This record gives sequence, structure tokens and C-alpha cells, in this order.
Amino acid sequence: MSGSFAESTLATVRSKSDLRARVAAWRAAGETVALVPTMGALHVGHGALVEAARGAADRVVASLFVNPTQFGPREDFAAYPRDEAADAAFLARVRADLLYAPTVAEMYPDGFATAVRVAGLGDVLCGAVRPGHFDGVATVVVKLLTQAAPDFAFFGEKDYQQLVIIRRVAADLDLPVRIEGVATVRDADGLAVSSRNAYLDAAQRAIAPALQGVLRAAAQRIAEGVDISDACEDGKAALIAAGFDKVDYCACVDPETLQPLAEATGPARLLAAAHLGRARLIDNIALKL
Ligand code: PAF
Repeated sequence: MSGSFAESTLATVRSKSDLRARVAAWRAAGETVALVPTMGALHVGHGALVEAARGAADRVVASLFVNPTQFGPREDFAAYPRDEAADAAFLARVRADLLYAPTVAEMYPDGFATAVRVAGLGDVLCGAVRPGHFDGVATVVVKLLTQAAPDFAFFGEKDYQQLVIIRRVAADLDLPVRIEGVATVRDADGLAVSSRNAYLDAAQRAIAPALQGVLRAAAQRIAEGVDISDACEDGKAALIAAGFDKVDYCACVDPETLQPLAEATGPARLLAAAHLGRARLIDNIALKL
């Protein structure tokens, strides 16, 4: 009982004016601020983001907002797991200082008409199969960054394309914030921790780590000199053989431009997205050549 009381004491604000007042008070005291944007359904991966944020700044704000503009019409916006009390308790445990949980009306008031679009980077890989997704992500992240005005903002490397796009947006729009990527947290069998893993049943959960295994095998083959397109095509076939229902892509790209590489002679990133039951899983690894 006392534990749940302690857990429920994390300060929560719902308006940008209240958020700005809290941040202004910290700044007046000479403190630095980090933002960890989330859509809730928090897990150890988010815990790692908060921990990294705590290491960088005096104060950590976590935002919780299931952003409607980044979901396609046939995607899981309505079904996306929502449990603010559990998320607030989690954030209190990992010692965030403030939860910012705005409503949809606060973020997108009547008449809202602006979108941030990152040409090129937002149209490939996940963007090719989720049109408009990264416009929604970029728009909401710019809003969160201007609302919280943090010194640092933390994003997971599991969503590698998202991280690259947010870095581009921050640079292009001269946002005075340092965008920090945090290494993917994995279960013991290699599966990247994700809110969407909750959609997997036991049989699918047993198949899911193959995504990481296939990426590792493809990376190894490329490092040994196998042609990139052959390694990626074989990777797609291996995912289907492992039990995935559909593969959106398996690609080896430049880590900054996200353009496909014909030859791996320098830094490269291998990424894949595949469907397993109700879940669409993504993962990526750096190629060390
Ligand atoms: O990665 C997420 O959870 C979301 O895409 C983000 C960055 C919070 C924007 O809604």
C-alpha cells in the first residue's frame, strides 16, 4: 500500500503551460533538463532511456502521448496499450522527475494544420510501407521539444530510422537540443524489447528472436564478402522460413542517409521489419566492417 502511494506521487502535468512553468523553475535554479518522449506501455527499454537521461541532466521529463498522427488508418491506434497509472508508477520507480501527459486537444487543437516532413529519410524502409508515419513522428517530436525546451532528448536505437529522422529535423530546424540514441534493450534470447511484443502469443514469441538472429547472420555474411542484395534476400527468406507471416524489408543502408548500399566498404546499418500475427516487429544492427 505504501509502495503504491509512493509510486503514485510522480508529478504529472497535462498542459504545455504547466510543463513550461516546471521547466522554467528548474532552469531558474540552474538545472539542466532531459526529455524522454514515449507513447506509454513502458518497459525496460524506456527505463534505459530514463537512466541515460538521468546521467546527462539534472531533471528528467517523460512525456506520454499516443500520437494519433503517426498511425495509419488500418494501424493499431485504438488498440495501442494505454495504462497511465502503471506508466506513472514505472516512471516513479526509475526516478523520472515529471510526467507530461497532454490530451489530444492540447497537442492538436482545432485548426491545427502544420506537419513536419523529412523528404527522403521519411519515405524509405518503414516509411515506404507506413506512408505519413514519420511526418506524424517528426511533427509531434518537434512540438514536444519546443514545449519542454530540453537540453537533451533520448530515443531508442531500436527505432533506428526514427532516430535518424529526429536528428535530421533537429539539425535542419536549428533546435537547441542534443538528440541522444540509446542502445536497444533485448530479452535474453535477443528479441528487442518493444511495447508491441505484448501482441505475440507464446508460439509467436518463440519465433520472434529469429529477427535478430537473421540480421546477425546476414551481417556476418556481408562481412565475409557475400553480395549485399543476396544476403538481404536470403535474410527475407530465412524470416519466412522461421515463421514470420510477411517481411516488409531487410536492407543494408548508409547509417545517415538510409540509402541502400551496393557495397559495404564503410559504416552500414542492417534493418528489417516483419509481421508476426498482430505484431509488426522491427530491429536493426550496425555492421562493423
Ligand atoms: O518512439 C515512440 O514511442 C514515438 O514514436 C515517439 C518518439 C514518442 C513519438 O510519438
